Amino acid sequence: MKKVLIGAAVLASLAAGSVAAQVPADRAVKYRQSALTVMSTSFGRIGAHLKGDIKLDNAALASNAEVVSLMSHYAFDGFIQGTPQPSTTGKGAKAEIWKEWDKFKKMQGDLQAATARLSTAAKAGDAEGIKTAFGEAGKSCKACHDAYRDQ
Ligand code: HEC
Repeated sequence: MKKVLIGAAVLASLAAGSVAAQVPADRAVKYRQSALTVMSTSFGRIGAHLKGDIKLDNAALASNAEVVSLMSHYAFDGFIQGTPQPSTTGKGAKAEIWKEWDKFKKMQGDLQAATARLSTAAKAGDAEGIKTAFGEAGKSCKACHDAYRDQ
């Protein structure tokens, strides 16, 4: 029951367009990097499946795609004004993000739309749909990293 309620709350907040995690500013960098790492891990698993390196069943594809979709929302709650510190990997967020906020937001939206399609396709067991949405999401990662992440 509790799980159902939490699931309903997550769905309701997703439907409202934001997960609104209210991240404290002093933990924003760690928060977003962690969410991006989780997103990337599941995204990479799906990618490895598509390349034929590993074989995931439909349930595993659907749960990885759901993680990608959820994290594509949560990660961006960690981009708070005044927090563009370099990451430990030397590939931190560029200060331009906060100067070009609308453009950055649009790129988030593109990613979130693609990951929602990925999750829907995975739940439906639609192999072609998964491939297409995965490619679109991947383009979205690259476009934003090229513009807004230190190389
Ligand atoms: C709208 C912009 C945007 C999109 C889209 C985006 N990223 Fe990123 N990503 C960033 C920025 C900015 C950073 C640097 C964050 C920091 O270090 O503060 C980053 C960092 C990362 C990191 C490193 C996290 C760490 O531990 O330092 C990973 C992994 C990552 N992104 C994966 C992805 C993947 C996979 C996708 C697509 C499925 C994606 N990102 C899409 C902007 C984006």
